[in-house]
Amino acid sequence: MQSRFYGGRVNSFEAVFGNSPEVVARAPGRVNLLGEHTDYNGGYVLPIAIEQQTSISMNHSNSEQYALYSETLDDIVYFTLGKSPTEHFATYVYGCLMEARAVGVKVPVLDIYIQSDVPMGAGLSSSAALEVAALRVLRALTGFPLDDVRIAQLAQRAEMQYAGVRCGIMDQMAASLAGTRKALLLDTLTLERRLVPLPPASAVLVLDSGVARTLAGSGYNQRRAECEEAARRLGVSTLRDIQEVSLADALPESLGRRVRHIVSENARVLRAAECNNAEEFGMLMNASHASLRDDYEASVPQLDQLVTLLQTHPDVYGARLTGAGFGGACVALCKPESLQQISEAVLQDYSSMGLKGRVLVPPHWVNRTATVGAGLAS
Ligand code: GLA
Repeated sequence: MQSRFYGGRVNSFEAVFGNSPEVVARAPGRVNLLGEHTDYNGGYVLPIAIEQQTSISMNHSNSEQYALYSETLDDIVYFTLGKSPTEHFATYVYGCLMEARAVGVKVPVLDIYIQSDVPMGAGLSSSAALEVAALRVLRALTGFPLDDVRIAQLAQRAEMQYAGVRCGIMDQMAASLAGTRKALLLDTLTLERRLVPLPPASAVLVLDSGVARTLAGSGYNQRRAECEEAARRLGVSTLRDIQEVSLADALPESLGRRVRHIVSENARVLRAAECNNAEEFGMLMNASHASLRDDYEASVPQLDQLVTLLQTHPDVYGARLTGAGFGGACVALCKPESLQQISEAVLQDYSSMGLKGRVLVPPHWVNRTATVGAGLAS
């Protein structure tokens, strides 16, 4: 059951629930630097946390129903465990409560308040930030021992079982274990990981293409099914086991291209994690975009245009779509002193093509650049 809260937007737990929260926890969004669509193939990824975070506050409730309020959506949703709410944002939290209960957490009836500045639907993992924050706050409230990897695993299960996306584990591992200063090199098969510094004299810029995407509605699940089919035909349990690109030649054309992307993308991640050189890292990002566009067919024309504008700017080392694709954001590795100038120039050119982009990361420039250029969304 859902009811819009009352008239104006409220902005505190106290205003919605009439008392103070017992516990609060946060988790960040992430931007993936390299390694796209490799995580559900047992491959390698290289995400980094962004500054924007989701914060969840909770309190025990005397009611029979859970109450879940989203400040961003100004919506309150009521539900009981065992009957999933229909509101999309609520299914992530509901899924986390159900998964926590399944591993033995005694989940009391709760009042829950969500606050977030992670951009939604842009490929920066607002859903993983929500899930990990929900599980962290539940851990704090109940004292149930869940380590950070376990939290990521439960969060992934929640997303798969309750939000209908057969995602890999990258986003939840990034939200649970990554920091904003170093990238997280993760082997998604073994969950071995280490932190990797950005190359010297480089910084990350993320621009939104303005093209909305939804994971469940996009080709995401279809790509995953294609990879599983290719692995089956090649006689391996995941495409991570394929190192020789030429093996793809034995497959029907489109399946072969999917395999080529996964094999080449894994190699790019491993190379980037070693190179410690911004020019080389940038070239690997450019190659990743070409592979996502041509072999994986996960791009859209607007993303290609924005990526080309970034790639041709003299102070950009490399750029690519980031996240699932089919819309959403682009990530670029840039000269740190030029971030603002790059974003202004690129978004002006994007705007002159009749397209509307905006800065997502670094977040403090969202406002600074919002007035520059007709094409910038506020
Ligand atoms: C989404 C999924 C991730 C990953 C990326 C593509 O973000 O949630 O698991 O598959 O797409 O790399």
